[in-house]
This record gives sequence, C-alpha cells and structure tokens, in this order.
Amino acid sequence: MTNSPSFSTSRNSIAGIAVTDLAERFGTPVYVYDQQVIDRRIAELKDFDVVRYAQKACGNLAILDRMRKKGVVVDAVSAGEIHRAMAAGYSTDPGKHEIVYTADIFDREALDLVVKHSLPVNCGSPDMISQLGERRPGADVTLRINPGFGHGHSQKTNTGGQQSKHGIWHTQIDECLRRADQTGVTVTGLHMHIGSGTDLEHLSEVCDAMERTAKEVGRTVKTISAGGGLPVPYKADEEYVDLGRYYQLWDATRTRLSEEFGHPVALEIEPGRFLSAESGFLIAEVRSVKQVGENHFVLVDAGFNDLARPVMYGAYHPISVAARSGDASEREQVDVVVGGPLCESGDIFTQREGGYVDSRSLPMTRVGDLIVLENAGAYGFVMASNYNSKTRAAEVLIEGGEAKLIRNRETFDDLVRGEVIPD
Ligand code: LLP
Repeated sequence: MTNSPSFSTSRNSIAGIAVTDLAERFGTPVYVYDQQVIDRRIAELKDFDVVRYAQKACGNLAILDRMRKKGVVVDAVSAGEIHRAMAAGYSTDPGKHEIVYTADIFDREALDLVVKHSLPVNCGSPDMISQLGERRPGADVTLRINPGFGHGHSQKTNTGGQQSKHGIWHTQIDECLRRADQTGVTVTGLHMHIGSGTDLEHLSEVCDAMERTAKEVGRTVKTISAGGGLPVPYKADEEYVDLGRYYQLWDATRTRLSEEFGHPVALEIEPGRFLSAESGFLIAEVRSVKQVGENHFVLVDAGFNDLARPVMYGAYHPISVAARSGDASEREQVDVVVGGPLCESGDIFTQREGGYVDSRSLPMTRVGDLIVLENAGAYGFVMASNYNSKTRAAEVLIEGGEAKLIRNRETFDDLVRGEVIPD
C-alpha cells in the first residue's frame, strides 16, 4: 500500500469553490487556504501532549486563531511573532506556556518583551541563558540542542551539525548548566530540531540524542520537544511519514526518561510545514504564452516575490491549470516553463536547485487561464516580498464552504508607507 498523495495537472476547484470564482472575486495573485486540511493535520498529531505550531510557516492571524481554537499552541522566533500570537488571542499567562520564544539570539526588543510577559524561552545559544538570567533570575528555560547532525530538504534548511548556527552544541551541556546556576536558572526542558523537510530516518536518530542529553541534564527536565521538520510530499512519488511509528519512538523515549526521573515528562512537537503546507494554493493568471527557442514559456502574474521557495531552494511545487472556460483536463498536455513577472531571470517556478530551468507537462494554456501553485501554504506568503515594488497578494480562507478574505491585497500606498523624502 502506498501512502502518497495524487496530484492532477488540472483543477477546477479548491475546497468546492471554483478557481475561476476565487480569482474573479479576490483578484490574482491570491493565496487560498483550505481550513479542513489544517484541521485534518492537527487531528493526526493528537497523540502528542502538546502541538506547538511553528507560526513562521504561515502566520496569518486568522490561521493562528483557528489553530488556537483547536488547542494548538505556538512558538515565536521574534518579537514580531510574539505580538502576532498575542493579536491572535494567545495568552501570555506564564502558567500556560501558549507562546514560547525560540531563537538563537535575543535582540533587545525580544528580550524586553519576554521579560515583560514572563514568557517561556527556548535558548539556542549559551549567551541567552545568561542574558535572561540577569533580567529574570530564577527563570525556567528550555535548551535547544544541536545534536551534532542534521538534515533538511535543502542544505539551507539543515539546522544540525557544525555548519549550522542553530542550537547549543551537544558537548556544551555542562558549561550551560554552570552558566544557568549563576543566576538561579533551571533547565526544565530540552528541544531538538534538526532541519525542515527531513525524513523519518533522520528524525528517528534524534530520539537517542535527546535521551542522552536529558540524562546529562538530569531530573529537572520535565518537557522534551521533538522540534518540527515533518515533511509533506510535494510529488506523487513521495510518501507521507508514518506518524504512528514516529510517535511510538518518541513516546518510548519519553517513557524511559519518566522512569529514570521519577516524574512525568511531557512530549511536544513543533511542526510548521506539516500543518499548513497542503492547505495552501497560490492562484495566478496567465498573462503571456511565448516560445523562446525550444522552450514554451507560460508567464503568470505571481513571481518569486509571492512564492520564493523555487528560487531559494529549487523547491518543487505541484502546478495545475484551471481553464478560464471549459475543462483543462481535456486539453493537450505540453512541456512548459512557468515563470513570473519579475525583472530577473531566476523568476521561474519550474526550476531545480542551482537555478536550472526545468519544464513541466501541463495542459496547454492561453492568456486568461489560471494556474495553481499547490502545497504553497507553508513558507509561501510569509516569505513574500515587495521586490520590483510588487504589492503582496491577498489571502483567503475557505471554511464551511465559504471563502473569506483574511488579508487585503497590499495597495500602492502600503508600498511607500514609512518612506521619507528629506528636505
Ligand atoms: N522549530 C524550529 C526551531 C524551526 O526552526 C522550524 C523551521 C520549525 C520548528 C518548523 O519546521 P517545519 O516543521 O516547518 O519543517 N523556508 C524553508 C523552511 C525553513 C524552516 C525554518 N525553521 C522552506 O521553505 O522550506
């Protein structure tokens, strides 16, 4: 039995609403999220004691609000993400641990905010322990450990090993505990996140590293976090991770530690991509179709200012065509290169790592048709920019069969807000 998704190169609707209607009503480019997909993914993680959403993957307030209502808490990697979580209704009550600041540095803003609200902190560098201890002596902290190995879908998303700036190096535990003692800080939790878009094999190795480290820290440890990194399939030949197996490995680790310490040890998971990637679609309109030598280019009104993953990592996103009229599945399939409007050659959605242009077999398109970049709900809108003075897209959430605007398309006034022409 295979556990792979199926992707089609033509698509008429998203969550029951016609793609053409969505484009008509909200304009293009537009990000559309299907809430049902997020809800399903949350339900699949129900065995973990705490599901902490890495909001960096898709942080729209409406998405965070729905996460919160389903009992999912959040991590925050900046002062901005703390504010965002609070704006979405997350509590700063120190007893609740709804928002945890996880980073490798405190910038001054973040440290002030963490101290002001007594927020729990996950320290990714030894300096953070002292900086927090000076401002909040006696604090409880979690340490983010770099176990000495890592793995991601790209070298840029590998967060373990010597080349990574993330986490406290695994041989420096003793030094960190001494540092903590100086200001009465207690290490009550451990966290390991080895990379984004990794696989079960690498993720499983983390359990052993966690067990070793927790024993070294000792019985003050009450929480362990498996971090994020759960991959999702972006291609039909990729499989979903066996979550049951993943949970079992971690649960066994947690149980051994509980027995060792003589008290319960809570098990957290911190996914971003897994919860939001498959819920998101970026709809763009075809504006030009042209032949360049051997290549058939389809140029759309979304670019890497809207979805940066292909240009940044050579990431593959499934692409489908929604015909303006009729059914794209009845059209001839042709090999095309899909690109955007930006004044830069790298503005190509069908590229491999290193910038090599690939083609994709898609139904023949005409100007006015729509293309849908799929699995775009994680690290999609959040990595959008205003490059080429492009306004950022609108975001729409579909729930209960209804499409609701959750972010206005930016305006030209938004583009120059804050800019000053001095006398
Ligand atoms: N926890 C920590 C401490 C992280 O640094 C990250 C991701 C996560 C959790 C969530 O990882 P996930 O479950 O989403 O794999 N922009 C890249 C991904 C960067 C991930 C950064 N940290 C991409 O588009 O693939």
